[in-house]
Amino acid sequence: MYNMLKHAHSGLRWVLLLALIFAIIKGYQAWKGGQGFSKKASLFGLIFTHVQLLIGLLLYGVFSPLVSFGEGFMKNSVTRFYTVEHLAIMLLAIILITVGYSRGKRKSNDADAGKSVFTFYLIGLFLILLGIPWPFRGLGAGWF
Ligand code: HEM
Repeated sequence: MYNMLKHAHSGLRWVLLLALIFAIIKGYQAWKGGQGFSKKASLFGLIFTHVQLLIGLLLYGVFSPLVSFGEGFMKNSVTRFYTVEHLAIMLLAIILITVGYSRGKRKSNDADAGKSVFTFYLIGLFLILLGIPWPFRGLGAGWF
């Protein structure tokens, strides 16, 4: 179960990144390019973000041996990363994306809706890129 969730969480990052980039481009086109706002694009971005959150919560609360509140966990860069940094950065990103989605949904015109999704999703994307344990960060995680 642990391995399955870990690989799902790891592989889904790519789907999530693509979905966010697509929603950001669509948001920009609605905001500046006079195109219709794509509710679907922003919804896909939101759904994948929340699926990652669900799997992440299971890993965090139940399965991952890398999450620990044991003595000295803040001194170990790997346990500190997964127990504190990854969680905090990703939760902030997920909150921003959720706010961007719901604000976008409530706007009465396409340009304002696009602006909201573009802005919030872009900040969320930067945070997610920052919070991913890329292999070159030496945190023991892979590319997939
Ligand atoms: C939403 C954006 C998120 C992305 C893109 C993301 C991405 C990743 C990636 C790529 C890994 C490394 C997996 C590997 O070992 O190859 C990872 C690990 C982990 N993530 Fe996330 N994550 C996200 C959100 C979260 C959240 C919100 C939580 C907690 C609630 C979480 C908890 C964890 C835990 C506990 C691990 C360590 C798993 C292990 O190797 O034992 N993640 N995450």
